[in-house]
Amino acid sequence: MEIKGSSAIITGGASGLGEATARKLAGEGVRVTVFDRNEERGKEVVADIGPNANFIGGDVTEPEDCQKAVDQAAEGGNLRIAVNCAGTGWVGRVINRDGTPHDLAPFQFIQNLNVIGTFNVMTKAASAIATVEPQADGERGVIVNTASVAAMDGQIGQLAYSASKGAIVGMTLPAARDLAVVGIRVLAIAPGLFDTPLLAMLPDDARNALGASVNFPKRLGDPAEFGELVSHIAANSYLNAEVIRLDGGIRMPPK
Ligand SMILES: NC(=O)c1ccc[n+]([C@@H]2O[C@H](COP(=O)([O-])OP(=O)(O)OC[C@H]3O[C@@H](n4cnc5c(N)ncnc54)[C@H](O)[C@@H]3O)[C@@H](O)[C@H]2O)c1
Repeated sequence: MEIKGSSAIITGGASGLGEATARKLAGEGVRVTVFDRNEERGKEVVADIGPNANFIGGDVTEPEDCQKAVDQAAEGGNLRIAVNCAGTGWVGRVINRDGTPHDLAPFQFIQNLNVIGTFNVMTKAASAIATVEPQADGERGVIVNTASVAAMDGQIGQLAYSASKGAIVGMTLPAARDLAVVGIRVLAIAPGLFDTPLLAMLPDDARNALGASVNFPKRLGDPAEFGELVSHIAANSYLNAEVIRLDGGIRMPPK
């Protein structure tokens, strides 16, 4: 797909993997709309990227915010790319150390943010992308969702997080099948361990130990490597309905 001159919406684009994606796509000549609830950081990021980027504040769990964000991204008239990076984790076991059951509230919070948030933006973006002029083979655009290796290698304490990322994996094929008729591809990336603000909170030795646990190369992933994969997925029309691990070959142990 020719991505230069098209528009993209990137949720979670104010930080980490989403920010790296916004920077990469903007550098490829894509007009990027960063949609994030962190207004301060989001505005800084788009100002730093330059005129190819714009920001809209809002919450991916709110359908109205998502519609406004998609409308803003579609203003250029050529929305072809939607990337869902907004999300977060939670640690909690099926039963706590004292034998009490996992609270429902954090489980619901994580499904709401990671799954419903992705659903909201995917569906609304698809509806907009379906109206643009097709390119070769009738291709109109692509949706890239962010899963995690935790969908496959869920660790102790990742019940809620793995459930949410498993749902993103599970949506990939049916969404790609649903949208084939309008020429929209759907993929998911399952990142391993990336050096984003999420992990920057850990002390250096803990981050180094995590990096050393990667098969090869023995380091954390660079968010720029995630952005490069999104850019490749967008450009490569024959990639579809796949979940791509981007993880240096790591297989997560139980803990
Ligand atoms: N960093 C990793 O190692 C890693 C590994 C696997 C999967 N992931 C996934 O990648 C995605 C991005 O992670 P990251 O490391 O870049 O995190 P991050 O915390 O750096 O960025 C997440 C962004 O999402 C935004 N966000 C959170 N909730 C939102 C909401 N309700 N509405 C709008 N925006 C919201 C935050 O403001 C933030 O800017 C997440 O889904 C995460 O689960 C990350």
